[in-house]
Amino acid sequence: MPRSSASSDLASGNGSRPGSILVIDDEEIMREILEALLTREGYEVRLAANAAEGLDLIRSVPFDAAIVDMMMPGMDGISALEELKKIDDELPVLMITAFASVENAITAMKRGAYDYITKPFKNDEVLVVLRNALAQRRLVAENRALRQNLQARSNRFGAIIGRSSPMRQVFDLIIQAAPSRTTILINGESGTGKELIARSLHQNSARSDRAFITVNSGNLPPDLLESNLFGHVKGAFTGAVYPKKGLFELADKGTIFFDEIGNIPLETQAKLLRVIQEREFMRLGGVETIKVDVRIVAATNVDLRRMVEEGKFREDLYYRLHVITVQLPPLRERKDDIPLLVQHFLEKYGEENQKTHLELTADALDLLQEYDWPGNVRELENVIERAVVLSTGAKIDADLIPDHVRSSKRFQMPQFIVPPEGISFKEVITDFEKRLIESTLEAAGGVQKRAAELLHIKPTTLNEMIKRHDIRPRRKRVSIGRSGDVSELDDVADDDQSLITNH
Ligand SMILES: Nc1ncnc2c1ncn2[C@@H]1O[C@H](COP(=O)(O)OP(=O)(O)OP(=O)(O)O)[C@@H](O)[C@H]1O
Ligand SMILES: [Mg+2]
Repeated sequence: MPRSSASSDLASGNGSRPGSILVIDDEEIMREILEALLTREGYEVRLAANAAEGLDLIRSVPFDAAIVDMMMPGMDGISALEELKKIDDELPVLMITAFASVENAITAMKRGAYDYITKPFKNDEVLVVLRNALAQRRLVAENRALRQNLQARSNRFGAIIGRSSPMRQVFDLIIQAAPSRTTILINGESGTGKELIARSLHQNSARSDRAFITVNSGNLPPDLLESNLFGHVKGAFTGAVYPKKGLFELADKGTIFFDEIGNIPLETQAKLLRVIQEREFMRLGGVETIKVDVRIVAATNVDLRRMVEEGKFREDLYYRLHVITVQLPPLRERKDDIPLLVQHFLEKYGEENQKTHLELTADALDLLQEYDWPGNVRELENVIERAVVLSTGAKIDADLIPDHVRSSKRFQMPQFIVPPEGISFKEVITDFEKRLIESTLEAAGGVQKRAAELLHIKPTTLNEMIKRHDIRPRRKRVSIGRSGDVSELDDVADDDQSLITNH
């Protein structure tokens, strides 16, 4: 980095706001000089008499730059610089050194210092270097914002929405892995976007203008699957009246995507292995070897390693596929992305249904944030599509969110704390059973039959337990007056069995 010179135009940087500067120097006189100088220029200045103090400060308030003395008792300037960079790796740090020791200065620059100044320094020198440092920091920040913006707008990831850190990692991996021909395994629960990722691997590769072929083996019997994959010659089997090209040939120079690879029967797996290794195969009934140049991408929502252990998936194929694995996080592990996804689907289905500018109320969004999304993005997409179709106003409120999402407060086991003196197992279980029944009855509005359904037990069993635990129904009773006005009688303990017997 070239050293800044004091002759630079001090007036440059007009209009830019001054910044906040951390000064770490053990000499009081130096701190005072710097404070006076920088404050006069409009900077906010905080002083620290040693590295530890300075590090404490920067951990609590952000700074735009730091000026650090090289020679300090305790932690020296270089170590302080390293610690500062750990906290904020873009922080410009100016080193001040009393000895014009080039070695020291070079070490500091190598460790990421922005520049160094030798004592005694000229005021202008400090100001110019600092101003340049701040300008550069702003530029870096602006560039990053610009880049992120571009990335968000460009079609690089098609319609794959996600800003959460697990999704960013996925994007990084795609960028790195897409250009090569390496086989990629995409692992993720149903509805997490495996197919989207497979397509984007293709789109971000040099093969993007060639075919992207999806193989959905489903429950196809092996011979039919193989004739689909490898094609067949005329007369290869009864009904093979014409020769047929297989999907591998159609995918030549492009990408072939095996959706749910775990469904491929063992005998076909062996043939697949050969294509992956040799990039060649024969048509069914054929003698000619056909060479192809294909990128293989596979997806699975099951644990293939477990399948290997169970003997349902070939180990050698597993290792061939497992070269690079993209692990797609379930939606519940990246709930930060929910608002973005909602926005995306509102636009998508709003356009389709001529209902643009639809919005969710805060309540509705809260419900979506709380739900666990076992069906992942696909389930969220369905919920938004339904709400858009059913909506009549400009806002989508909680009433348009399906019941199962609304009432998704999950069952939570209590935290058990066993006291040192121990506890009676029997009593705990009895108490637990009783409370579980009480809560379920409450959720079922006192209706035993519904409560039994919720607990997956027979109503008669539940009824027995209710009697055994002497559970008295507590529910809201509604009384309707002669005039038709409704009043609620809260939390009435009631012996009347009719309240809780099967309705
Ligand atoms: N990150 C995302 N951004 C936008 N849409 C997404 C995202 N992830 C998934 N989707 C949408 O969710 C739906 C399901 O995605 P996809 O078919 O890729 O999931 P999958 O993992 O292949 O599911 P399955 O295992 O059930 O086949 C699609 O409509 C897809 O467009
Ligand atoms: Mg899929």
